[in-house]
Amino acid sequence: MDASGAYCHNPNGVSYQRPEARGIGSVTGSPTSFWVEVLTEKDWPRLRDIRLSALRGFPEGFLASHDREAAYGEEHWRGEFSRGEWNIMLADDLDVGLLGVTRLPDMSSQECYLEYLWVAPWVRRRGVASMLLRRVLDRLRDAGVHTVWLYILDGNDPARRLYQRFGFQSTNERQPLPGHPAGNEEKMRLRLSSPQSLC
Ligand SMILES: CC(C)(COP(=O)(O)OP(=O)(O)OC[C@H]1O[C@@H](n2cnc3c(N)ncnc32)[C@H](O)[C@@H]1OP(=O)(O)O)[C@@H](O)C(=O)NCCC(=O)NCCS
Repeated sequence: MDASGAYCHNPNGVSYQRPEARGIGSVTGSPTSFWVEVLTEKDWPRLRDIRLSALRGFPEGFLASHDREAAYGEEHWRGEFSRGEWNIMLADDLDVGLLGVTRLPDMSSQECYLEYLWVAPWVRRRGVASMLLRRVLDRLRDAGVHTVWLYILDGNDPARRLYQRFGFQSTNERQPLPGHPAGNEEKMRLRLSSPQSLC
């Protein structure tokens, strides 16, 4: 997969390139452009910053804890970075969304996991997660991936609805999570059709 960015047209149809991504935060007014960027290794601090924003803002949505990950040093974050491909959604020049594509060591190149999906609260319900997912799934399909897996915590209905819209289905594989308020996590699967079969 290439490391270049890609434009996304927002619902207003306005789009332009602002590759100089800096910071996570909120602005007044609506963003005018959205841009998906695949992080490169030197960008590990951006993965750290957006991941910590997600954990701080929505601790119940993830298995990890903010305090634990905030204590990780550079070596740990570089290791985390090396687990996958990290897609960032920019709104104008701010990092507002994250989606990771990872593989277990024994996984074929035709399968992968999605992890860490998060969109900043101030741009939610405007199709940002959908744009990010669409872009990433299109690229995976083009790369020959046929099966995409993810885990979702019980009770995360917004994310479940989003995944179902994209065709993810429950595998009925559930894992209890002792000590976590969600109680369980569930594995979901999406079968990607090949580009030819869409013609
Ligand atoms: C889940 C999340 C990524 C959705 O991001 P988003 O940019 O708001 O999603 P979109 O605007 O693309 O929404 C697409 C669809 O998802 C569903 N959806 C999204 N948010 C929803 C909500 N709060 N309630 C119900 N459905 C919701 C809807 O079907 C929505 O379509 P609609 O707006 O036409 O009804 C975002 O709420 C988030 O970051 N949550 C916290 C982190 C998280 O739960 N990550 C998933 C871990 S598995």
